[in-house]
Amino acid sequence: MINTNDFSAFAASRRSTRDFLPTPVSAEIIQSILTDAMTAPSWSNTRPYKVAVATGPVRDRISADFLARWAALSKARQGGLVAKARLALTRYGLPTSNAIVSKPYIVELKPRSRKIGADLYGLLGVKRGDAAGRDAQWARNYEFFGAPVELFIFTHTSLGKYSASDAGLFMQNLMLSAKAHGLGTCAQGAVAIWQDAVAKEFEIPKGYKLLCGIALGYASDAVVNTFQAERLPISEITISPKTN
Ligand SMILES: Cc1cc2nc3c(=O)[nH]c(=O)nc-3n(C[C@H](O)[C@H](O)[C@H](O)COP(=O)(O)O)c2cc1C
Repeated sequence: MINTNDFSAFAASRRSTRDFLPTPVSAEIIQSILTDAMTAPSWSNTRPYKVAVATGPVRDRISADFLARWAALSKARQGGLVAKARLALTRYGLPTSNAIVSKPYIVELKPRSRKIGADLYGLLGVKRGDAAGRDAQWARNYEFFGAPVELFIFTHTSLGKYSASDAGLFMQNLMLSAKAHGLGTCAQGAVAIWQDAVAKEFEIPKGYKLLCGIALGYASDAVVNTFQAERLPISEITISPKTN
């Protein structure tokens, strides 16, 4: 039986890794991590998700495609009316899936997102008004932060939010298993906006939609990997009982 303090310390030690060594991850380790992930609970044991494991040339081609699209989108974001008109006309770089990822946060959630952005970019020396610097850092998502493995997580649409819930449980097991194997991970909503780029490389079964990616590999000692996202007190997420 695992000691409670050991579990708490282990769970707390998982942090998102945003810079990886090029060192490959063996197929055996990937299998082992996926096997651990499959021990997560699931709605009626349906496991309404699938994972595409991108390594080697497949990983590289998807990354190149993403980077080209991001370059076009970023150019339009930074540019004037002409650049924006070009984007609207060609549509190249615009999200082709999960446009919700790019939508503004609701008022209650915005400050948390702002804080993580400010803290992370602050650590990296990217100034508040430096939109180009922020876009350049965001582009690292599309290099999978240098990770040799990118996992694409798909969910079946039939179970709605319960598919995403199951996939989330699977992902957390996967990320903790990766940590136990000495590997780093970063969940990536950033890659969800171009499912068609992933579909060029994988036979995605009917009814499955891209949820997000997970970068997987050995962490480098880059400063970004020292980042410690704030952990909110549980009072922030507990709902008070009615008082009357
Ligand atoms: C579904 C999901 C999508 C995420 N997408 C991104 C992403 O696109 N890029 C990124 O750098 N981090 C991404 N993250 C990582 C979160 O920013 C991170 O988990 C959060 O700030 C808490 O930090 P920690 O993972 O280090 O504890 C994502 C996390 C989740 C769960």
